Amino acid sequence: MSEKRSKYLRFAIPERTEHWLFVITFATLAVTGLVQRFASLEIAQGIIMLLGGIETVRVIHRLAATMMMFETIYHIGVVGYKVYVRRSPMNMLPGLNDIRVAWKALLHNLGFVKEKVQQGRYTFEEKAEYWAVVWGTVIMAITGFAMWNPIATTRFLPGQIIPAAKAAHGAEAVLAVLAIIVWHFYHVHLRRFNTSMISGHLDEQEMLEEHPLELADIKAGTKKRVAPDILRKRRWIYFPLYAVIAAILLAGVYAFVTIEETSITTLPLAERVSIYVPLTPTPLPTALPTKSPQEIGATWDAGIGALFQEKCGLCHSDPSGLGNLDLSDYQPALTGGVSGLLLIPGDSANSLLIIRQTTGDHPGQFSVEELARVRDWIDVGAPQ
Ligand code: HEC
Repeated sequence: MSEKRSKYLRFAIPERTEHWLFVITFATLAVTGLVQRFASLEIAQGIIMLLGGIETVRVIHRLAATMMMFETIYHIGVVGYKVYVRRSPMNMLPGLNDIRVAWKALLHNLGFVKEKVQQGRYTFEEKAEYWAVVWGTVIMAITGFAMWNPIATTRFLPGQIIPAAKAAHGAEAVLAVLAIIVWHFYHVHLRRFNTSMISGHLDEQEMLEEHPLELADIKAGTKKRVAPDILRKRRWIYFPLYAVIAAILLAGVYAFVTIEETSITTLPLAERVSIYVPLTPTPLPTALPTKSPQEIGATWDAGIGALFQEKCGLCHSDPSGLGNLDLSDYQPALTGGVSGLLLIPGDSANSLLIIRQTTGDHPGQFSVEELARVRDWIDVGAPQ
């Protein structure tokens, strides 16, 4: 058997194109989505910076999402074409048999059953993945819509739907990425490096191992060709019908991305307000530096002496003055007159001077304020 004849077409160019477009879109969505989902991680912040900031990341994510919606509409057209025009068997549909096959495969993998399961065009592993993508796309579209158009959504649904949609969107994203890394990579790249999405073909050996029932069908020649005129007739019906469906779906996409700007418009900064203002305790009164007696004029030389001079000097300015009291200088003032000590430093109440002046009948009399000054002076020790 020649090299050429042992190859079996698995995916035609349109299918491969669809697959690679999907890979690019999915990867873009995954990267720009997961960095938003896990924005607090350093690596996420690094990628966001690399992509040009969070605003850009969000726009890229939405562009990729729109692209994904276009791809979905195209895929619906492709599936419809295969089903209606080509009448291809709907071998991607899951059935009870797939559960049986999956169970047998599990037993085989665990080593309980020797023989391998025989599968056809699409294995149960492939069906599981395909329907996971369908399911995931539906979830992502619905929850994505809620986040993209929160006002329109909450017109019909309660407000909690928005954070719920966000949680579901992020969780489904993680699930989808893990499914690709674990399920897809294992079955398509690890177990055997399957190149059919690149070359389009599988060889005899690969067909025998992964799709033996399909191989048998091909060899038996059970695949029926549809007559060209029938094909043409069906296309005449199908294409206008699909055009209408696609137009409706595209209108839906247009509404999806345009009805609301709430979640994409970044308003210009109006003002900066600090949202965290720590409470500052009211500062405790700091004790004022105690002024020295000199500074407040409470020493003999800083004013008290002058005060005595002014108010008492007339009658008490030399040792032979009235009552033998000389108030012209510090030393003689402390010494006193005929009655002895004029004052007791630190004890104004028992000082003769204060006693004499408080009666208010002395020929020479301090004013109330002056007396208070003198009393303070005595109480701080009557410094010179
Ligand atoms: C107009 C005169 C006059 C003036 C001014 C005067 N004194 Fe006298 N002072 C007297 C006479 C007179 C005596 C003696 C008789 C006495 O003990 O009352 C005296 C006695 C005193 C004595 C008693 C002395 C002693 O040892 O017994 C004190 C204290 C005194 N004066 C304080 C003052 C002070 C303080 C002032 C200034 C605010 C003052 N005096 C102003 C007339 C004056």
